[in-house]
Amino acid sequence: MLEGRSLIEPGNFSLEETEGLFALAEKIENDDTFLRGSCGGKLLATLFFEPSTRTRLSFEAAMLRLGGSCLGFADPGSSSAAKGESLADTVRMAASYADAIVMRNPKEGAALLASRYSPVPVINAGDGGHHHPTQTLTDLLTIRRLRGGVKDLVVGYCGDLKFGRTVHSLAKALSRYENISMIFISPEELTPPEYIVRHLQKSNVEFREIRSLEEAMPHLDVLYMTRVQRERFFNEEDYIRLKDTYILNEEKMALGKKELVVLHPLPRVNEIAVEVDDDPRAAYFKQAKYGMYVRMALLSSILGVSGA
Ligand code: NCD
Repeated sequence: MLEGRSLIEPGNFSLEETEGLFALAEKIENDDTFLRGSCGGKLLATLFFEPSTRTRLSFEAAMLRLGGSCLGFADPGSSSAAKGESLADTVRMAASYADAIVMRNPKEGAALLASRYSPVPVINAGDGGHHHPTQTLTDLLTIRRLRGGVKDLVVGYCGDLKFGRTVHSLAKALSRYENISMIFISPEELTPPEYIVRHLQKSNVEFREIRSLEEAMPHLDVLYMTRVQRERFFNEEDYIRLKDTYILNEEKMALGKKELVVLHPLPRVNEIAVEVDDDPRAAYFKQAKYGMYVRMALLSSILGVSGA
């Protein structure tokens, strides 16, 4: 039962609970009357202390499609945080108006802290360079739909694996699935954090770290491209030096398998050339659509109206 539960990182829901969400999301995809109106009278607070397009809009679209309503802010400068209000107080306020809270914050651990003060469920929409569990639900649902399941896959992650929270959450989540091996493709300075590496070792996941995208390409079933996270760098020079290390183009795509699935949480900057968009293996725009279905499944479940 997910009613009343918060989602701070992928491990908060069991594999079975996560699969239950995918089953609901697939029902919604196939029948747009399913769960329509089920969140009538419910309110979702969206507290975005960092920029967002897809995540905030897809949560809002999900809630509105379920018949519920949204309130919140997308610019922290317009909230009382700008007056020095603590996160704990902002969250207590939002919880007294709304039935659930979705929050994005630049500080790692902010969502966990919020969930401790909130009497209503809190969904982490990204806490600094740490986790982004609903992007992971989106990524897993896309893999499941396009590869017929989440098992027996070689998954490559490419780009900023140090600060990219979507990579951290996806790697952790995939470690629970059968026969998934991983290739981390990044410059030396942007390798995955120690806590992710340790988690994979503990879970007996086969993985390696390499520098060359060309070398990895022929082995991959899924390629997860990411942008270099400019806002988390300590200095602009390092960002400029590293930002264009990997650019996926037609030439590199030619090295990939026929059934390869290319994902990207978006926004992209330069790391995927637009010429790749027409390749049938490019799935990043489809991925954004799956995000809305799985967020509908999540909201209806934590608000206790999905019947699941
Ligand atoms: C990602 C994020 O915010 O971490 N975006 C998203 O939610 N789709 C990826 C990114 O910003 O690079």
